[in-house]
Formats: sequence, C-alpha cells, structure tokens
Amino acid sequence: MIVTIDGVAASGKSSVASGVARRLQLPYVSSGLLYRAAALVALDEGLPTDRAEPLLASLEAQPVELRPLPEGNEVWRGSQDLTERLHTSEVDGSVSAVAQLQPLREWVNDHLRQLPPPFVAEGRDMGTNVFPQAEYKFYLTASPRVRAERRVQERTADLESVEAALVLRDARDARQSAPAPDARHIDTGLGNLEQVIAKVLSYLPD
Ligand code: C5P
Repeated sequence: MIVTIDGVAASGKSSVASGVARRLQLPYVSSGLLYRAAALVALDEGLPTDRAEPLLASLEAQPVELRPLPEGNEVWRGSQDLTERLHTSEVDGSVSAVAQLQPLREWVNDHLRQLPPPFVAEGRDMGTNVFPQAEYKFYLTASPRVRAERRVQERTADLESVEAALVLRDARDARQSAPAPDARHIDTGLGNLEQVIAKVLSYLPD
C-alpha cells in the first residue's frame, strides 16, 4: 500500500504524514528533504541553482541518502547528517529553483521509487507523478496566514515576511503542485493536527 499526502508549503504535510504513518505502523517518506538536500549541497559548494549538471555531478560523486525512519526522516551524505541544516531560510529560498531542474527531479524520483512499499509519501507530486498508482491520495491546503503562523514558530523571522516567502514559494512550485484528480482535499486550518490525522485515517482501511 502507498498513501500519498501532497500539498502546498507548510500545509502540515510532514506532521500529518508522520502521524498517519505512525498509526498505520508504516514508514513515511518526506520527498521535500531530497530537494532541500540538493539545495544545501549547491549552497555549501557554491554551485549554481539554475543548472543541473554541476549539482548532479557533485551528488553522484558523493551521494545523498534519505532514511525514512519512523521517528523522523534523516538525510545523510557520507558520514555527515544533513538533517538539521535542511530547514533554514537560505534553503527555503533556493530549493524551488533546484526543484525546477528536470534532471534533479529525476534524481529525486529514482531515489523515491527504490524505496520498498508500504509507506506514506509526502510532497508536491507524489500522487500525480511519482506514485500515480497509489491507492490513497490526499491534498492538504490551508490559507497563507495559517501556514505562516505555524512556520514562524520554527524560523527567526516575522509573520509578514514568512507569509510572503510562502506565497512566493507556492508560485515557484506551482508547476509540480497540481493535485491529483483522485486526491481527497483537506483544509488543515479547520482542525488541529490530531483531527486532520483522524480525518485521513477515516478514509483508510483499518
Ligand atoms: O515539502 P517541503 O516544503 O519541505 O519541500 C521543499 C521544496 O522542495 C518545495 O518548495 C519544492 O520546491 C520542492 N518539492 C518538489 N516536489 C516534491 C517535494 C518538494 O518540487 N515532491
């Protein structure tokens, strides 16, 4: 079984996916972490974020590995744990450029398709492009203000600038963020995390 949970930035995908996966006793897979890892490598190594070749060459020379652990996904590069460095404003600001590079998307998708099901996968195009065969698909939304209010607790920035950055990232990610026609839409602003998790679970088999 594959469950996909897609949605806009900061719509609660990771928290919902990890909660649902925990209840189902399955791993969850956070695809955005691979795009974030690629953006971090570009930033660390001074590589352009609008050209795939140099970045892919670096990622091939020293591969990145996503570990979909039940207690939280980790991303490693050799002996380096990159996980703690993936959610900075700098990475937020560069990741959408990297995610527009088609060879980079293929690099991420190859990585994801090698993971053995069952799992819960979250991102932007899990239900459309990467796992179109998934049995259960969800698409999470919430207003920009609600999403910014959540995010501001994790970033050292003010509400207005966090909201503006989210709206900008949504626009940059629009191409790969269309919901699957067979996805169920859930507004995560209408309930707390436990209620959203319960709603997703209500559509899944016991
Ligand atoms: O989900 P998260 O906000 O961590 O994703 C970071 C970025 O990775 C997104 O803004 C988007 O540019 C890219 N992404 C993507 N496709 C996915 C997951 C993430 O393009 N499936």
